Amino acid sequence: PVGWKSLAMMAVTGGGVLYFFERERSRRLDSVKAGPSAGKASLGGPFELRLANENGRRWDTSELRGGYALLYFGFTMCPDICPDELEKIAECVDVVNAKMAPAKAQDAPHGDKLPLTPVFVSIDPERDTVARVAEYVKEFHPRLLGLTGTVEACKRAAKQYRVYYHKTGDDADYLVDHSIIMYLVDKNGDFVTFYGKNYEAKEMAEAIVEQMKRLG
Ligand code: NI
Repeated sequence: PVGWKSLAMMAVTGGGVLYFFERERSRRLDSVKAGPSAGKASLGGPFELRLANENGRRWDTSELRGGYALLYFGFTMCPDICPDELEKIAECVDVVNAKMAPAKAQDAPHGDKLPLTPVFVSIDPERDTVARVAEYVKEFHPRLLGLTGTVEACKRAAKQYRVYYHKTGDDADYLVDHSIIMYLVDKNGDFVTFYGKNYEAKEMAEAIVEQMKRLG
């Protein structure tokens, strides 16, 4: 578990590794300073959603156990940031898996666990139906898991990772402001660290391989 204080420290020591939406950031920093829960706030944890890749069957994070996962929260109608980040994730995941898996394992059937599994979680469940997310994730990586669910379920998932998101505009073409962070989760489902938008795919892959070797 990593508190907001240490997250903030990481952001600072990382030389602005991370871009938080300003208002959310100051709100959180204030709450860390002031709140009775200071030092107790932790990042990550279990959640339950629908797996778009498999017709929206019930899915929960325990299914990721035994392998590492790279979580990303976004929405399928995101005009450019989410597609860019998901392309980056796809490239990164391929580099990591090539390094961490024996050649044979990469051709394994889909039921088999990858060393690192990419996961897309919708923060726009009202428009991101199971069918839509299923089509969307295919565009980026054959093993990218796509998750969506009810408004409440997606909210709970995002909350576990302190993901900030906010609808802008009222019409059907609304956008969703959201934090752009990749979360690395270990084999036990525990949050390890995060990577911001300014990481390049290869750089992120190297950092993840290092973490995986360190943690085993
Ligand atoms: Ni986006």
